[in-house]
Amino acid sequence: MEYDTAKNTIEGWMNDTDLLWLFDAAKEMENVVEIGSWKGRSTHALLSGCKGTVYAVDHFLGSSNEPEAHAEAKARDISQDFMKNVGSFKNLKVLKMGSADAVKQFEDNSVDMVFIDAGHTYEEVLNDIKLWLPKTKKIICGHDRRHPPVKKALRKMFGEEWKGNDGRRSNIWIKNIKTRRHSELDSESTAGGSNVDSRLRGNDEIKNTIDLSHNKKYGNIEVLLLYVFS
Ligand SMILES: C[S@@+](CC[C@H](N)C(=O)[O-])C[C@H]1O[C@@H](n2cnc3c(N)ncnc32)[C@H](O)[C@@H]1O
Repeated sequence: MEYDTAKNTIEGWMNDTDLLWLFDAAKEMENVVEIGSWKGRSTHALLSGCKGTVYAVDHFLGSSNEPEAHAEAKARDISQDFMKNVGSFKNLKVLKMGSADAVKQFEDNSVDMVFIDAGHTYEEVLNDIKLWLPKTKKIICGHDRRHPPVKKALRKMFGEEWKGNDGRRSNIWIKNIKTRRHSELDSESTAGGSNVDSRLRGNDEIKNTIDLSHNKKYGNIEVLLLYVFS
């Protein structure tokens, strides 16, 4: 199934390149969480692609640092526009709340794909990545990769180990994640495979996140998350 971007007439900030990437990526996922949905433009592409549940997380109050772009949210309830636009999708679950509250509803390592497009200050982007990375199994990604505060947060979390979606007009940043069982990891390192420990030591932020998710759900030894830097 293909996605016809011309049929997505919902107001928002995604261009066709971004919509197509979201649709294609979501096709491969069993579930998706979007942080920052507004009127549902990006959500529509995710819902159209994903066969499983798409969770839309938004307090619908607008972003703190974008008073002009989100001025409408002061005057009326944007969640009504959102529901009008995408409320008919059967695979939609709306979490009308802040990102920090919504994240508490998810087990670690339980979401295939997380798409971050909420607050765009350095602190907000960094915080959202830190909150949602432990929940993510396959891809954590977000919008506005050329926006300096977003780039700064990405550098802080991942160094240069992230990529953009293809195309000159692409705005999405992507960080692929792979999960392996501890036993697989053991056999790799015995065979002289990837040097997991030194990779993880290279980035304390990521290591901390891994330690955190690891402790919460799996205890200390059963599973180790391996972040493959593509
Ligand atoms: C740039 S808009 C999202 C645009 C949307 N993805 C699209 O395709 O048009 C950002 C959204 O994030 C929401 N938002 C900002 N900070 C948030 C937070 N901490 N938790 C939940 N939603 C937040 C705002 O209410 C706003 O709807």
